[in-house]
Amino acid sequence: MNGRNILVTGGAGFIGSHVVRRFVQNYPDDNIINGDALTYAGNLENLRDIEGASNYIFERLNITDSEAVRLLFIKHKITHVIHLAAESHVDRSIEGPMEFVMSNVVGTVNLLNAAKEFWTSGEHVFHHVSTDEVYGSLGNEGLFTEETSYDPRSPYSASKASSDHFVRAYYHTYGLPVKISNCSNNYGSHHFPEKLIPLMIHNILNKKPLPVYGKGDNIRDWLWVEDHASAIDTIFTNGSVGEAYNVGGLNEWTNIELVRFLCRLMDEKLGRSKGESEQLITYVADRAGHDKRYAIDATKLEKELGWKPSITFEEGLSKTVDWYLENSDWVEQVTSGSYKDYYSQMYGDRK
Ligand code: NAD
Ligand code: TYD
Repeated sequence: MNGRNILVTGGAGFIGSHVVRRFVQNYPDDNIINGDALTYAGNLENLRDIEGASNYIFERLNITDSEAVRLLFIKHKITHVIHLAAESHVDRSIEGPMEFVMSNVVGTVNLLNAAKEFWTSGEHVFHHVSTDEVYGSLGNEGLFTEETSYDPRSPYSASKASSDHFVRAYYHTYGLPVKISNCSNNYGSHHFPEKLIPLMIHNILNKKPLPVYGKGDNIRDWLWVEDHASAIDTIFTNGSVGEAYNVGGLNEWTNIELVRFLCRLMDEKLGRSKGESEQLITYVADRAGHDKRYAIDATKLEKELGWKPSITFEEGLSKTVDWYLENSDWVEQVTSGSYKDYYSQMYGDRK
């Protein structure tokens, strides 16, 4: 095959698996190499439906191992990178920042070094997938634009901000053809139940307490994961080298409104009485350094590249809940074993 050899790092994770599936299906003439360490967040079950595709290859790769990264570039003659591999959960970063430094900062620099070493001529793209959390926390007004100064406040966002800076530095210093996207909170199928939406779906289903941090008045902008994958495709394909693009859903919710909405939606789907699941809501101790509000201005992406979210939050959440109800085996698999220890450590005595 003479197409591009596209390395998707973190392709077995939540967003990565949607990106891999999209690229395998949309670009049959390219090879899609999924390089993933399979941490607790990586799961090959996420890609069962496409694992037999002739243009798909899985390689177990830990990006903190610089030699392994080099060898993978050589073995598959990597021409393009879409970099998603990362430790991604803020609460875990508060408990142990060093893994975030290793995977998110050192791992990113290892990939940049390999690209710099091997991409000496020809067409290449290094697309770095990042978060809006690098911009810090907003008050009641305003939106993050691409010009907003970086002001990360959690170990997770500090590690992602650092990786963004390295990616830009390799563009300015070595001319590496990079693109960066900074996206708001994603939701959708195959989302590990440590993050707000899948955790609440899982607990509502099992009639367990719904732990809302603080007063529940923190605000997030939510985007359907398939729409994030389409934005990545758009930026990877048509975005300008050296540029960053914000990706968001213009869809702000306080956590408590969102949890209440999910409760109503699931009561309906599960045939429960009105208001039943809302009784599970339990206010618990706030997250340390909890960012108040994230909200994205995605005008640049819409105006320059014509991207827009494809569905409403209500449609996306309904699809997402249906997926969890229909895939209890997946949920069972990811919540057995170490998830139980994580859950009791994080929520056990959180009053
Ligand atoms: P995730 O935690 O679900 O998946 C991360 C994947 O990376 C897993 O498959 C894991 O095995 C892999 N991984 C972790 N460390 C690795 C290492 N050292 N080497 C190789 N693979 C490793 O994360 P996600 O939510 O899918 O996020 C993917 C990317 O998108 C991250 O870079 C994250 O910062 C970014 N992002 C996420 C969101 C969101 O709402 N989830 C929003 C914006 C940006
Ligand atoms: P999360 O899904 O962890 O994403 P992020 O912190 O990266 O935005 O959390 C989303 C919001 O939900 C955030 O304000 C913290 C809050 N939250 C809870 O109230 N309870 C929970 O159990 C979790 C996981 C999050």
